[in-house]
Amino acid sequence: MHRKPNKILITGGAGFIGSHVVRRFVKSYPSCQVFNLDKLTYAGNLSNLRDLEGKSNYQFIKGDIVDASFIEALFEKEKFDSVIHLAAESHVDRSIEAPLDFVMTNVIGTVNLLNAARNSWKSNDSDQHLFYHVSTDEVYGTLGNTGLFTESTAYDPHSPYSASKASSDHFVRAYNDTYGLPVVISNCSNNYGPFQFPEKLIPLAIHNIKHNRPVPIYGKGENVRDWLYVVDHAAAIDLIFHRAVIGKTYNIGGHNEWKNIDLIHLLCKIMDRQLKRTEGTSAKLITFVKDRAGHDLRYAIDSSLIRQELNWEPSLQFEQGLEATVTWYLENSNWLDQVTSGDYLHYYEQQYQHR
Ligand code: NAD
Ligand code: DAU
Repeated sequence: MHRKPNKILITGGAGFIGSHVVRRFVKSYPSCQVFNLDKLTYAGNLSNLRDLEGKSNYQFIKGDIVDASFIEALFEKEKFDSVIHLAAESHVDRSIEAPLDFVMTNVIGTVNLLNAARNSWKSNDSDQHLFYHVSTDEVYGTLGNTGLFTESTAYDPHSPYSASKASSDHFVRAYNDTYGLPVVISNCSNNYGPFQFPEKLIPLAIHNIKHNRPVPIYGKGENVRDWLYVVDHAAAIDLIFHRAVIGKTYNIGGHNEWKNIDLIHLLCKIMDRQLKRTEGTSAKLITFVKDRAGHDLRYAIDSSLIRQELNWEPSLQFEQGLEATVTWYLENSNWLDQVTSGDYLHYYEQQYQHR
């Protein structure tokens, strides 16, 4: 099937992946109204979407998915025909410090959206309705040195973050099984690229290297992640949204595994070249620090289902994507300075508090 929705709600669209998804949908589907609902936490930043200001098919709504009555009223008023749900607390280290924030947004917030979609769609059956939940490969837990996560791998989350995402996935499937809500889920590996908040490994390392600060590597740097360029994830979301079979789950990954320490050495080389420093300068900043609690050893995705069924594949080699990412962060140092200053939070709080 090829869905042709008229009114999509995208949650978390001011964040890293959400901003790429919103941009893609607003630009590729001009006859579709795209609503971006975001609380603008520390991770949400409207300057990620400056280029969409004034577009007639785009609207930003500031709001919290934890606020059930606000969400119900919004669905009642706008009558969205579909939802792409990305809003979440997304950083594992923060989940270790404050697990309840993750339960509230990732679990309660998701259930609030499911309830609102169910109420809004129950009296109006349409094959355009879809609740698309964007999730993570971390729900599957950790792999040893071999093997890949498939769509049928049993859930085994280890961090409060992954436990909250696993819980939200279960609720989404339960609403499909119990109430017949039309849902799809995708579970993706580590994303990288422009507009990622510099608490995550790659932008944190770029920011620290630029300022000659230590680059913290947890443990021995032997943990493995499968990296995917964020624009390729947005393309996969677009395909799944328009063509996926209701009730299905798709794994998305780059088939691109890197040990953290090897990735950081590659990044250091690129930084030296782009900053015109002598090769070896940035690598001196690598500092091994205490390991993350419950640190998963290895994630790796079998993405053959989406490749075969929807003909998706990543467009970029990792070296190209990393080079482009470094260039973007160095050319957009204002963005990096702004999101690390804390000022923008205050600015947006003032700007939107009376809306
Ligand atoms: P992010 O932290 O950059 O962005 C999250 C966005 O959600 C922010 O704009 C934030 O303001 C918003 N938000 C948070 N709490 C909210 C609330 N209560 N109400 C409304 N908005 C709220 O996250 P990201 O890295 O872009 O991840 C987006 C989604 O993709 C998440 O669901 C995450 O679990 C999933 N995911 C991320 C990755 C990755 O590598 N980053 C990989 C796989 C899946
Ligand atoms: O796998 C998908 C997940 O990828 C997403 O669901 C999460 O939202 C996203 O944050 C990411 O989780 P990770 O924990 O894998 O990403 P992070 O960038 O925090 O860490 C990547 C690896 O680097 C991990 O093994 C921990 C390590 N690390 C991280 C930081 C921030 C360090 O060694 N030093 C650091 O300072």
